[in-house]
Amino acid sequence: MNTPQTTPLSQDQIERLSSLRHRPQDRSLSRRLKFFIRCWQGRLFHPRFQRIKDQTLGMMYAPVYRRLYDEVYPLPDGDIVEVGAAAGSCTVVTGLARAESKRNGSIVSVEKFEGGSRTNYGKNFDENFWIFNNNLEKFGVRDRVKVFADYLTDENAQEVYNLIDTPQLVALIHDADGRIDRDFRLFYDRLIDGALIVIDDVVRIDPDRPIKDKTQAQHFRKFMITCKLIDEMERLGLLENISYTLSTAFCRKPKDTTAAVIDPQRIERLLQEVEDELAHGLARSTASNTA
Ligand SMILES: C[S@@+](CC[C@H](N)C(=O)[O-])C[C@H]1O[C@@H](n2cnc3c(N)ncnc32)[C@H](O)[C@@H]1O
Repeated sequence: MNTPQTTPLSQDQIERLSSLRHRPQDRSLSRRLKFFIRCWQGRLFHPRFQRIKDQTLGMMYAPVYRRLYDEVYPLPDGDIVEVGAAAGSCTVVTGLARAESKRNGSIVSVEKFEGGSRTNYGKNFDENFWIFNNNLEKFGVRDRVKVFADYLTDENAQEVYNLIDTPQLVALIHDADGRIDRDFRLFYDRLIDGALIVIDDVVRIDPDRPIKDKTQAQHFRKFMITCKLIDEMERLGLLENISYTLSTAFCRKPKDTTAAVIDPQRIERLLQEVEDELAHGLARSTASNTA
């Protein structure tokens, strides 16, 4: 594992971080109720994956981790790239599937470890990096994982390529900022035919829905970008066999396809559409408040 320069944590920090629990970011009553019910369903029907979720601060639900395990298990030898590793829940599930199916290959995990959802866990990069590593160690998968601890961009992608050991990738897992166009540009052509592609947060927001404030707009932005871009990738023939577990898409890379068909100008237009829809939603909310 390539380890960034971090300062060792104090015992107090370690104790605080060890007792953290995941809670939904949106703390509305309906969200908390849904979270509670889903966790109980997880305990009943997928206890192993609910335990992984609970112990690694997982943001997805147990059936999604279960599906991820089942999809990764039969994949052939080869590296896997994961963008948006957070506290390592998908990393742990993927690592366990690879270990238990006795497959070779690393999981190359990309995570910036600060800002966004990470501010709800560690107080800084070092603490979030510690949480991630500690979770990998708890589940015995640390040796299978290489981490690129930075915000992924076109400019630093070469550093991620340097971590990939196999000529081709067998899977790409995206649960980051919705920018699957970037991840496809960077990794798609390295995927084997039939590779597994996992995309989280395909949540369809009604374009006419009022958006109450900038925090909600920020929350919806990732969903809206993900939906526009997954539709675009499907339209371009870059995804097949798309099926869902909750809001996570599990897809395959069709034979003989290339990310070269992605048109950057069209992506810019789609991203602009998202911004326009968000502005429209915020304006609707202001209008209904002043009416
Ligand atoms: C929703 S979380 C991932 C949750 C995780 N899959 C789980 O099961 O708990 C998204 C993560 O992506 C990271 N992220 C977003 N954009 C990124 C980027 N461009 N490069 C690296 N990490 C990114 C965020 O820091 C955050 O931790």
